[in-house]
Amino acid sequence: MSFEKNILITGGAGFIGTHLVKLLVNKYPNYHIINLDKLTYAGNLENLKSIENQANYTFIKGDILNQDLLQELFNTYQFDGVIHLAAESHVDRSITNPLSFLETNIIGTMCLLNAARAAWTNLDNKLFYHISTDEVYGSLGETGYFTEETPYDPRSPYSASKASSDHLVRAYYHTYNLPVIISNCSNNYGPYQFPEKLIPLMINNIKNNKPLPVYGDGNYTRDWLWVEDHAAAIDLIFQKGRVGETYNIGGNNERKNIELVHTLCNIMDELLQRPVGTSQELITFVKDRPGHDKRYAIDASKLKNELGWSPTVQPEEGLRRTAEWYLANADWLERVTSGTYEHYYEKQYGN
Ligand code: NAD
Ligand code: TYD
Repeated sequence: MSFEKNILITGGAGFIGTHLVKLLVNKYPNYHIINLDKLTYAGNLENLKSIENQANYTFIKGDILNQDLLQELFNTYQFDGVIHLAAESHVDRSITNPLSFLETNIIGTMCLLNAARAAWTNLDNKLFYHISTDEVYGSLGETGYFTEETPYDPRSPYSASKASSDHLVRAYYHTYNLPVIISNCSNNYGPYQFPEKLIPLMINNIKNNKPLPVYGDGNYTRDWLWVEDHAAAIDLIFQKGRVGETYNIGGNNERKNIELVHTLCNIMDELLQRPVGTSQELITFVKDRPGHDKRYAIDASKLKNELGWSPTVQPEEGLRRTAEWYLANADWLERVTSGTYEHYYEKQYGN
């Protein structure tokens, strides 16, 4: 079967990758979507059951650090585009084990760039699209927003590794003319997120009547984006973004952690039919995360003005849908949290 385009997605079995792969496979029957994923603890093929047998989808288990494999895949599938999501993505893990972050996020990105560079002798209609985070910009005070011009100032091993990969992607653009685009997105939430990140962790703990570990005083702010809105933005940027450009993606939806946890507690009390206030009693303030960034907030006006993208799902609706999904998918939650799963932070630092 011949396809109009062959697209490599890396990290397609992870949280955001799951939503993106499903979107692209269903929306573009003429595109062959090839999903390369190592299946770390964060990757789960179960997420992709609904599309796994579609003719325009292929899964390959493999590591982006495997240069030979990457070269072979580029030769076999003649990729027109790459959307690179594969990464180690959890800040707490990066504090205790930075090496795997540097390996996958920096060296892995370089291997992928090298493979594209070697294979793409003709650069017409080729695109290497790198998915990154707003955390590369560092930490904001009470006011202001990250724009595409904000200088990089990463402060955790995770964000430093992502910043480094962004710099490499730009270096390959300037040095080798590799056609690249980068987008930097705020915190995502929604179904299929591994329950070590704030929102699914709190939902899971409320469900199991376990303490809700809020770092420091809880007055840290994140800008939350519904994951399907991010997938839609990636699709739009991949189709219409300008080569060499960076686009910020954000939810325009800032919440202090403690406010967000209160909202979740109220939603969960209602869904679990518990008396109002039951879940809030589980809130436990624990020792702060080292180097904890105070506030992230994105100015996404470039993406809105150039390509017409805006977030569609409002926070209270999104949180409710997320909580409902985790309750309805208790088996999934059980499977991903079995085995060696523990709260990463508490394991390292205790209370
Ligand atoms: P995730 O941790 O849920 O998924 C990462 C995926 O990458 C997993 O499927 C994993 O198996 C795979 N992977 C890891 N190392 C690999 C390797 N060496 N080779 C091949 N595959 C490998 O992450 P996510 O939350 O879906 O994030 C995806 C991307 O988006 C990352 O690059 C992340 O930095 C970026 N991002 C995430 C957020 C967020 O809020 N989650 C926000 C902005 C940007
Ligand atoms: P997280 O989901 O790890 O995303 P990131 O650190 O990449 O923004 O954390 C979101 C916020 O929630 C961050 O300020 C740290 C805080 N947090 C807690 O207070 N308790 C927790 O158990 C976790 C995982 C995070």
